[in-house]
Amino acid sequence: MENLRGVRAIADRYGIPFYLDAARFAENAYFIKQREAGYQHTTVKEIAREMFSYADGCTMSSKKDGLVNIGGFLALKDEQKYRQAQQVLILLEGFVTYGGMAGRDLEALAIGLQEVLDECYLASRIRQVHLLGNTLLQAGVPALRPIGGHCVMLDMKLFLPHIPQEQYPAEAFAAELYLDSGTRGCGLGQLAFGFEDPQTGEIQYSPLEVVRLAVPRRVYTDNHIHHVAKSVIKLYEQRQALKGMRLVWAPPGLRHFTAHLEPLQ
Ligand SMILES: Cc1ncc(COP(=O)(O)O)c(C=O)c1O
Repeated sequence: MENLRGVRAIADRYGIPFYLDAARFAENAYFIKQREAGYQHTTVKEIAREMFSYADGCTMSSKKDGLVNIGGFLALKDEQKYRQAQQVLILLEGFVTYGGMAGRDLEALAIGLQEVLDECYLASRIRQVHLLGNTLLQAGVPALRPIGGHCVMLDMKLFLPHIPQEQYPAEAFAAELYLDSGTRGCGLGQLAFGFEDPQTGEIQYSPLEVVRLAVPRRVYTDNHIHHVAKSVIKLYEQRQALKGMRLVWAPPGLRHFTAHLEPLQ
């Protein structure tokens, strides 16, 4: 919360609007309650209200803390900006009453936004993510600390130090994990953030090389979590045998979403 107040103060100082990415607003509110002095006796709902009070609006990917399958929204405090956005909405998404989303999804979202603030739900959701993280840490797997609210991040610079970043260790591990247990992780490293200077050909390295194991809400049992952990630990024990990957095709931007890679022999 202190951070949000600080961002608000900077935005005011420079006269710029401040929009929240609200995708994980409830999990973040829960962490404020757990970790920030003075909020232990405040409800998560009140904390969320205070968080939003500092922002001029927000974007929301509802499939996270909206607890729905798909959809999202833009919320704005400024009436004029809201009216302008409605025009673009009609052109690009759908009429203002549904914005391109199906009615049933809107109804589920209206309920999801309430249910996500249930503190028993949040405690069990974050406990499950931490079960995955702590099981991996106990086995010596290099996961980033503190463990987050929605995912466990594996540090590939420590996990696969023998694979140089230009051989995409994060994608190499994600591919092996999928083959081993059908678990879909997401590489976030050289493929996403690194690049080759078009003038000099020099490689710019991404400071982070991680695999994100994001845990969907209300989907898995703890047995599923143990299945994933077992597979990660098995691959960690066999890590010396893992090889890097080669880029076969990549679009000019946002390459990690659609690039094609193949394993190096
Ligand atoms: C914080 C955050 N905001 C927004 C998004 C994008 O959401 P969408 O897939 O709905 O575009 C993501 C995706 O993971 C995210 O983590």
